[in-house]
Amino acid sequence: MRALGAAGIAGAMLVVACGGSGSGPAVALPGTATGATAGASAPASPTAAPAPPSTLSLAAQVGQKMFFDKKLSGSGAMSCASCHDPAHAHAPANDLSVQLGGVHMDLAGLRAVPSLRYKDVTPPYADLLDNPDGISVPGPGGGFTADGRADTLAAQARIPLLDPLEMANASSAEVVKKLQAADYAPLIAKAFGAKVFDDSDAAFANALLALQAYQLEDKSFHPYSSKFDLYAGNKIGGTLTPAETRGLKVFANPATGNCASCHYQGAGLNGSSALFTDFSYEAIGVPRNAGIPANNNVQYFDMGVCGPLRTDHAPAAPNAANSFCGMFKAPTLRNVATRTAFFHNGVMHSLEQVIRFYNTRDTQPELWYPTVGGTPKAKNDPGFPGYGLVTTQYTGGKVQKYDDLPAAYAPNIDTQLPMDGRAAGSVPPMSEQDIADLICFLNTLSDADTKPATPTKPGACVN
Ligand code: HEC
Ligand code: HEC
Repeated sequence: MRALGAAGIAGAMLVVACGGSGSGPAVALPGTATGATAGASAPASPTAAPAPPSTLSLAAQVGQKMFFDKKLSGSGAMSCASCHDPAHAHAPANDLSVQLGGVHMDLAGLRAVPSLRYKDVTPPYADLLDNPDGISVPGPGGGFTADGRADTLAAQARIPLLDPLEMANASSAEVVKKLQAADYAPLIAKAFGAKVFDDSDAAFANALLALQAYQLEDKSFHPYSSKFDLYAGNKIGGTLTPAETRGLKVFANPATGNCASCHYQGAGLNGSSALFTDFSYEAIGVPRNAGIPANNNVQYFDMGVCGPLRTDHAPAAPNAANSFCGMFKAPTLRNVATRTAFFHNGVMHSLEQVIRFYNTRDTQPELWYPTVGGTPKAKNDPGFPGYGLVTTQYTGGKVQKYDDLPAAYAPNIDTQLPMDGRAAGSVPPMSEQDIADLICFLNTLSDADTKPATPTKPGACVN
């Protein structure tokens, strides 16, 4: 829980609104960088200009080759880009909650695939990370994946390469053998030395650094080309419409949307522009996704920071007190309007659904969690909304709120607005107009090379 004072949000957003966010992003170069080199220029054709020389370090050039190399998987059919498609803001091209991988490409993963954009300035995980806003109390923050179990992009890259549900290599040695046989093996030797393959463990470590260097150096991972960036930098075309401006206010307003208290970090960190996450972890009670095969086991709970994927904060015994259970990383909202699977388990499939969940999790929990012991109505009452995860209305019974967290951990659920624990049946914090405006604003966070998952209706975000 990282409550941010009202003055803080207003102040933070004001800096951005005034275009005082400083210059563009400064990208930290990895220790492996060996300086820019001229790549071989493409054969000149009469019509096309020659390709510009690569501005990536040799290590990053290796990482780029690896990122798209399907041979680096147990199936031979999957690369990093299969799940992190550059044409979809480095997120999946399909709308599955979790992707299929493994040696035969038939095993479902455990979590939705995040975008890889704007991860370059993520600090390592800490239980008590200073909040970048400088106002909120320190709390769990930083790190990669939804539970922060990898401290660097290099450490993270090991996970998919060896995960039997993803790229499914049997060992790091198997990956190194494939690299040795790759047509870009000479580039690897150029980047890391002629003896790079002599020691398999060292070669694997270098390969992970190469993937990290690519993600840090290549501008496609952090183009800062959204309408919001134009607006924050006072550039041409950077004017928000009245609807988008109202949406920004809902985003920042501590009495309605309050999104900024977890999804905003102002300019400053490593010279970056606003990242739309403060890297913090909270338990917000995302409903269980029955579509994930692992969830067929009623004993299985993905509890984020307390495990089971992450192992260093596990409860001492089942259901023993543990404040980390249920916490997941508040992801960046940049490019969120391009996504088709939301939250760590991909249970929701539209931005509107996510925002309606935030608005009515407490006031109409029956729309989001299963009801047990009730009788389904033959026909829903007029006005019973169709946007929830549960579209059947019940008489009687009990709503199983927070059905993806053992009951012992319900007290970990965050109680900040917009989900402040207000009674079922009361008025939700955001109005219909607020929701529509907020969606308009979130669409301004999409990079210029992306397409919205659900285009807003023509004219809807103008006035
Ligand atoms: C089968 C799909 C799949 C493939 C292939 C895949 N990933 Fe991922 N990636 C995921 C999922 C799922 C997560 C979220 C994992 C979690 O939260 O535990 C993720 C998370 C990440 C993250 C952390 C992002 C964040 O927000 O913290 C990075 C970085 C990443 N992947 C890089 C890579 C690289 C590099 C490769 C290739 C070596 C790769 N991925 C291959 C599915 C995939
Ligand atoms: C108390 C902190 C908090 C507040 C306030 C908050 N969020 Fe979140 N948000 C989170 C966390 C934590 C997650 C990840 C939850 C998970 O995966 O289980 C998340 C996830 C999301 C996602 C899913 C992104 C993705 O890539 O899957 C969206 C969209 C989102 N939030 C939008 C909003 C909006 C819009 C608001 C304001 C109406 C808001 N959030 C308010 C903490 C917060």
